[in-house]
Amino acid sequence: MLGPKQGHPDVAQPVSVDYRARTGVNSREDYERLYRRSIQDPAGFWADFAREFHWERPWRRDHARWNFDRRRGRVETVFFEGGRTNMAYNCLDRHIAAGRGQQPCFLWEGNDIGTDRRMVFEEVRDEVCRLANWLKSVGVRKGDAVAIYMPMVCELPIAMLACARLGAVHTVVFGGFSAESLAQRCADCRAKVVITASGGARATKVVPLKQITDRAAELAAKDGFQIETVLVLEHPSVPKGKCSWTEGRDVWYQEVVPRQSSSCAVEWVDSEHPLFLLYTSGSTGKPKGVVHSTGGYMVAAAVTTKFVFDLQPGDVYWCTADCGWITGHSYLAYGPLLCGARSVVYEGVPSHPTPARCWQIVEKYKVRQFYTAPTLIRALEAHDDKFVLGSDRSSLRVLGTVGEPINPRAWIWFFQVVGEGRCPIVDTWWQTETGAAMITPLPGAWPCVPGSATLPFFGVAPVLLDDKGKELHGATEGILALKQAWPSAIRTVKGDHRRFEETYFATFPGYYFTGDGCRRDAAGCYTITGRVDDVINVSGHRVGTAEVEAALASHGACTEAAVVGFDHDIKGQGIYAYVSLHDGNEFSEAIKKDLVKSVREQIGAFAAPDVIHWAPGLPKTRSGKIMRRILRKIAAKKDDELGDISTLADPAIVQGIIELRGK
Ligand code: WT7
Repeated sequence: MLGPKQGHPDVAQPVSVDYRARTGVNSREDYERLYRRSIQDPAGFWADFAREFHWERPWRRDHARWNFDRRRGRVETVFFEGGRTNMAYNCLDRHIAAGRGQQPCFLWEGNDIGTDRRMVFEEVRDEVCRLANWLKSVGVRKGDAVAIYMPMVCELPIAMLACARLGAVHTVVFGGFSAESLAQRCADCRAKVVITASGGARATKVVPLKQITDRAAELAAKDGFQIETVLVLEHPSVPKGKCSWTEGRDVWYQEVVPRQSSSCAVEWVDSEHPLFLLYTSGSTGKPKGVVHSTGGYMVAAAVTTKFVFDLQPGDVYWCTADCGWITGHSYLAYGPLLCGARSVVYEGVPSHPTPARCWQIVEKYKVRQFYTAPTLIRALEAHDDKFVLGSDRSSLRVLGTVGEPINPRAWIWFFQVVGEGRCPIVDTWWQTETGAAMITPLPGAWPCVPGSATLPFFGVAPVLLDDKGKELHGATEGILALKQAWPSAIRTVKGDHRRFEETYFATFPGYYFTGDGCRRDAAGCYTITGRVDDVINVSGHRVGTAEVEAALASHGACTEAAVVGFDHDIKGQGIYAYVSLHDGNEFSEAIKKDLVKSVREQIGAFAAPDVIHWAPGLPKTRSGKIMRRILRKIAAKKDDELGDISTLADPAIVQGIIELRGK
């Protein structure tokens, strides 16, 4: 249990729970043994797990290879070469063939208390087949892209699986993204179909998904890309009569899908065939379409789910992420399905109608594993503990967090109040690009450390580098990189392999560059310290500074914008924007609002700046580069830590900016 300094916010110390995982990895020694093998013989190690799945054609013995060094040719990762399989078959038909067809698969909980739906594996498979048949009827073929822009209803993971069944490539766009973002993504992957809903329910609000899709279609058309078919699921938040309609393009889900046959042949695909694309932000340019493979991703999603959450068939597991993010792909849809678990799909907001909702859901479904983001924990921690204590949480066994560093205070609250000091917390570090958890505790195998992701998962070879790319050893701090491929690694960036190589493999030749800073202690445990690039992590969502800056600068009054992150009690990091205005524009509340609106419209509400700071000029070097380091300090009100400003083209600008703070 917690040591004498328990509850102290700054102390990260090990926490042991007496927990015997069903995975059989119960000690650091068990882990070390398996880990060594995974690094020395990745092909053999992963093949042992891959055998649990159905492969229409087996992989070659020597199936794994990769190159992380551009100087040696094309950067690539290949796993299960020669093998052919299908994700949807392995998630559904395989369990049905094993007699688990009548077991629950999705436990859907609606936004409003009292609305729910239970689907068993067979029902999900039948619906997947019907939807796949309809997709085929409108011309979707293996390799085609399909965009999914839906609320968190069962039909969302069903749509993902329907694509997978056909070998079509899904790209889920989170429902909080704007029309511009949706349009850009559809055009980039040339989506054949968009699957959406009339609307979505989030707490007391209605998200007009169809209306946003209409606007996205207009915007895409202006850019020369035609969205030809839109499948619309009628959602009670926006009834049929209230939904705008374009004859010839729009089709009601409820009218066409139920009429389709519930059997649909599986399209067997090569292991390296792309399963999905997921757009994510970086420090520069437009969002990148991260491409994931079928075979490697499947095996890694399943094996990490099993070990990290100690997940067994039939377990009730709840991941609060939306399917629009990678966490929803790997740990709400694919991982739990592959493991034959029951996955809770929650439509609403975790604090609606009260901060007790999460724990009421845990009690209602007897959730065993609960996986969420630090931002939610901090938000719930801010309320009275009675909201937690009022529900029975005795079913909980493993708690997990992901998306951003978790501060030890929130960790300890999660551990003691939510988990009653019984449940190990798995603080899982990974990224959209890694596809699956990379550095993470295994429940009960070794003590958890508040705020630390602890040790690398099997097959993951982390290193800490200095800024010249030299490997650092022992207890130290540096830039986190990975020097060996893993099965669910990003394969390429859609349509731009060069950008893929430049973003991830050019900074340090021979290594995958994560963009994160990291500390390693004497016991070999890793603690992520945050991004070292210009990416801001807002409530666990990655926001690219360049994208926010471009959205601000597109406003007629704005000459230039510079965006940095700042510490935020709930969100982890908030967005702080400095803007310069064209002559003749007065800085006012109205302009501030308008600038924020422009970000909401172009990216989405979650990327809206928290602070707009007027800066008649921005601090730049003589070569014209904005010195964000200085802007970060001003945002943090650390004026005495600005450091050397003499290299600025105009050092006097800094004082001017400081004086305008809070205006
Ligand atoms: C970035 C990736 C992976 C799913 C959700 C986010 C940060 C992620 C942790 C963690 C500290 C974390 C990193 C990473 N991050 N997990 N456990 N501790 N930081 O996926 O949007 O691709 O963002 O999230 O900075 O690079 P993503």
